[in-house]
Amino acid sequence: MITDKLREQTRPQHESIESAAPFKVLMSPELTIEQYAQIISFWYSYVKPCEELIRSNQTMAEAIPDIEARYKDSLLENDLNNLGIQPDTLPASTITPPLHHTTDMLGFIYVMEGSSMGAQLIVHKLKEHSWYNEGITNFYAGYKKENGKMWSAFKKQLLALELSDAEEAQVVESAKQTFTTLEQWMNLQGQQQMSLPAL
Ligand code: HEM
Repeated sequence: MITDKLREQTRPQHESIESAAPFKVLMSPELTIEQYAQIISFWYSYVKPCEELIRSNQTMAEAIPDIEARYKDSLLENDLNNLGIQPDTLPASTITPPLHHTTDMLGFIYVMEGSSMGAQLIVHKLKEHSWYNEGITNFYAGYKKENGKMWSAFKKQLLALELSDAEEAQVVESAKQTFTTLEQWMNLQGQQQMSLPAL
């Protein structure tokens, strides 16, 4: 099953990204609101150009009928505005996954949707900070109480596509590339803007 293949075959990439320096900072009890704002900015720079490409692909709207509800850009824009950052002043990431085919885009969306599952743990951590408020954690809160429901619905849509083995392999490859490029972008931004050490 494609959903099992994705979880199993991207496990090393997931483990790697969890220990990337900016995500360690994100989970630290010492996290400041300024560092949090930087991490949200890095996310936006990465997600925005990718979602723009996917929005322009009609096949994706057919493959994933509720795709509109799944884009993360407006959640990130709300967080940025409430953090006092104008989203349109942020640069687009120079490191993105190749998103040429529908199978590539499905891999990207899998990673973004799955990240909402782990994000529940992250929100729990964020709530411990004195500066926490709901207005700046829209992205990490995701679908809130509907996270589990939206995740199951996404997996059902993926399975309903009845992809061939070759197509499934392309989706998995793209998911790996999404993890890797996101990690590279986060690390680069962390080094340049947060003075985090290179791994
Ligand atoms: C500090 C960072 C992170 C932590 C602690 C974390 C933690 C977790 C946890 C606990 C789950 C399992 C949730 C469940 O099944 O109920 C999960 C799933 C997942 N996470 Fe993360 N995560 C982190 C970062 C990320 C990032 C940055 C991404 C990608 C953008 C990501 C993508 C995923 C995906 C795709 C799944 C679903 C795996 C599957 O069942 O197919 N995670 N994460």
